[in-house]
Amino acid sequence: MKEREVILSVRNLDVNFGSRRRPFRAVKDVSFDIYRGETFGLVGESGSGKTTIGRAILRIHPVSGGEIYYKGERISGKISREMDQKVVSEIQMIFQDPMSSLNERAKVDYIVAEGTYNTKKHISKAERQNLVDQALLDVGLLPEFASRFPHEFSGGQRQRIGVARSLIMEPEFIVADEPISALDVSIRAQVLNLLSKLQKERSLTYLFVAHDLSVMRFISDRIAVISRGQLVELAPSEELFRAPLHPYTKALLSVVPQPDPESERDKKILIYDPQMHDYESDPPVWEEVIPGHFVLGNQKELEVYREEATR
Ligand SMILES: Nc1ncnc2c1ncn2[C@@H]1O[C@H](COP(=O)(O)OP(=O)(O)OP(=O)(O)O)[C@@H](O)[C@H]1O
Ligand SMILES: [Mg+2]
Repeated sequence: MKEREVILSVRNLDVNFGSRRRPFRAVKDVSFDIYRGETFGLVGESGSGKTTIGRAILRIHPVSGGEIYYKGERISGKISREMDQKVVSEIQMIFQDPMSSLNERAKVDYIVAEGTYNTKKHISKAERQNLVDQALLDVGLLPEFASRFPHEFSGGQRQRIGVARSLIMEPEFIVADEPISALDVSIRAQVLNLLSKLQKERSLTYLFVAHDLSVMRFISDRIAVISRGQLVELAPSEELFRAPLHPYTKALLSVVPQPDPESERDKKILIYDPQMHDYESDPPVWEEVIPGHFVLGNQKELEVYREEATR
């Protein structure tokens, strides 16, 4: 198999909030690699640290420990101005709530063009307008919309404006933070299709954040599961659904609706209780139990996971 290029590498990432003396550890010792061109899913319950990881990658949150590398160069901590510019233009984020993430007072053309005032300072007004028109067309909106305000649009259209705002920067890596969860069920598929079409056309790489696994299966090449700031499992999508190992992953999977009503009726909803694990005397480690399948567990658990993974 051809060696795949790692575009983003997160190594032992810690992000703390609060005071230095009494920090709240929102992200704990998280490590993963994302390959160029893939969709990497990050799934976990509300408050587990997903957005915080995305924001640390975009340098919105400072890291408290560990490093983040983009195309082999460190982008966390103190970096050069050039490197900072590179991150600003090549890494973009699409936000969860299109109703609150757009500046209500600005017209669409300013909202979409905003990033270019930083990266393309010296282009003419007409050139900037062309970029905006093209970005709007690329997401399936009419260039005429440029002179309107965000409140004139539906949720789905607003999310397209958010995507256009990212695309105008010609990004290579996009953090899509629950881009469809605030949208009407009927238009979710449209936005997903748009993201997938753009990915193919521009060989984009996505870090796709969600809190349930149902959508993830179909769009992600690999899925990482996070609970309380820690990754508990990471595997190719099919593998994760075939052989979920960690009890938290199993619990998440048990709430994914099945197409078969029979199994749906007899389904047991699993509950994951971290208190059940004896981690005092036998602390958990992050281990690759079979190639590409990582799980967090203590030595006793890993023994079971290794056996389950090869079954
Ligand atoms: N700026 C901040 N200051 C203090 N605490 C924060 C800050 N941002 C996030 N947190 C806390 O860090 C934890 C992780 O939050 P985060 O927003 O990353 O979760 P999430 O997985 O994205 O959740 P959701 O699915 O609800 O979006 C939460 O306990 C949250 O309250
Ligand atoms: Mg979030």
